[in-house]
Amino acid sequence: MDPVRYGIVGLGQVAIKGHIPELLRIPDIEIVAMCDPDESARERALQLVPDAQCYPDYDSLLQDPTVDVVLIATPNWLHKEQAIQAFRAGKHVFLEKPIGIDLEECDAILEAWRQSDRLLQVGHELRHANLMRTMRQKIDEGLIGQVQMIVLQEFRFPLLPGWRQTGKTGGVMLEKNSHFFDLFNWLAEAPPARVIATGGNNVNKDSPLIDHCIVTVEYVNRVRATLLMCLFAEHGSQLTIDVIGDKGRLIAYAKDQRLVFYSRKEPEPQEWSFEPGADGSFHMGFKTEHESFLRSLREGAPVICSGPEARETMRVALAAERAVSDGTVVESLNE
Ligand SMILES: NC(=O)c1ccc[n+]([C@@H]2O[C@H](COP(=O)([O-])OP(=O)(O)OC[C@H]3O[C@@H](n4cnc5c(N)ncnc54)[C@H](O)[C@@H]3O)[C@@H](O)[C@H]2O)c1
Repeated sequence: MDPVRYGIVGLGQVAIKGHIPELLRIPDIEIVAMCDPDESARERALQLVPDAQCYPDYDSLLQDPTVDVVLIATPNWLHKEQAIQAFRAGKHVFLEKPIGIDLEECDAILEAWRQSDRLLQVGHELRHANLMRTMRQKIDEGLIGQVQMIVLQEFRFPLLPGWRQTGKTGGVMLEKNSHFFDLFNWLAEAPPARVIATGGNNVNKDSPLIDHCIVTVEYVNRVRATLLMCLFAEHGSQLTIDVIGDKGRLIAYAKDQRLVFYSRKEPEPQEWSFEPGADGSFHMGFKTEHESFLRSLREGAPVICSGPEARETMRVALAAERAVSDGTVVESLNE
């Protein structure tokens, strides 16, 4: 069978460190075209994929008949126009998160997708990671019983300088924490009902962004999911995802790729460990998210991290951002 042919728009860090190295490890996908207005970005990408066509403008990539899938990895405020143009050009779209910077943009993307007969997957990659998929599989097998609580703790360095520090991203909750809200929604398996959030900027005063927060999402099935984020902890950085059920507790340690299970009955834990990504990082789902999209394109498997799911994630993220920035603390998600 011929490989599925990708065209990548936006050749910055997520393309160069994440997508391209992982796509090159998938034999059934070929990167045939790339595009970025920045010449040095194009040169860096061509070192990884010397045989691809490399365009300075997006129209040329869209008009390239060899491109089946457009992978959009540009700054957030370009996602809407570029995704809509790709659907109109008859391409499938793999869209980096977030799905636009507000609900209006998200809905415009979804409308263009629905009017096409093409597929859309959004790059919330964490739930594609082997670590998280195994966690989910153990939960589905009944290991911890009914999920009751989710606690995600992240301690790390501030967001990178550049466009992330502008007001154009949709905010920290959308730009970064949407990865975590996607996990929450996926693990809670129910619609979110309320978001309770507090946070602010106490330390990273050279940045306008929230640098710490505590967000709790309450779901209609009474699952409660809490995010504790701190962006002033460069050393000893940590990302752990704890899921607690009525029979036990699973803890995913993202940095060292370890999953630990504590039963409520047995004192000894059980443990599993996983391989890191191609670049050795714990950004773990880049390869598997594209393998998953490939199955959807080839075999009609349901898209994991679909547009409508990404919209639900966006609703939680925007409510959390609002609760913190307006000081309202509680936001209802009933539409
Ligand atoms: N899934 C993840 O874990 C993850 C990680 C990092 C970034 N991201 C997302 O990926 C996207 C890109 O982030 P990044 O860190 O790679 O940013 P970046 O700034 O490193 O790269 C963006 C690239 O887009 C290019 N670009 C700008 N305008 C363009 C245009 N009109 N047409 C084509 N290219 C254009 C820039 O020249 C740059 O090379 C963002 O939406 C970000 O949220 C996702």
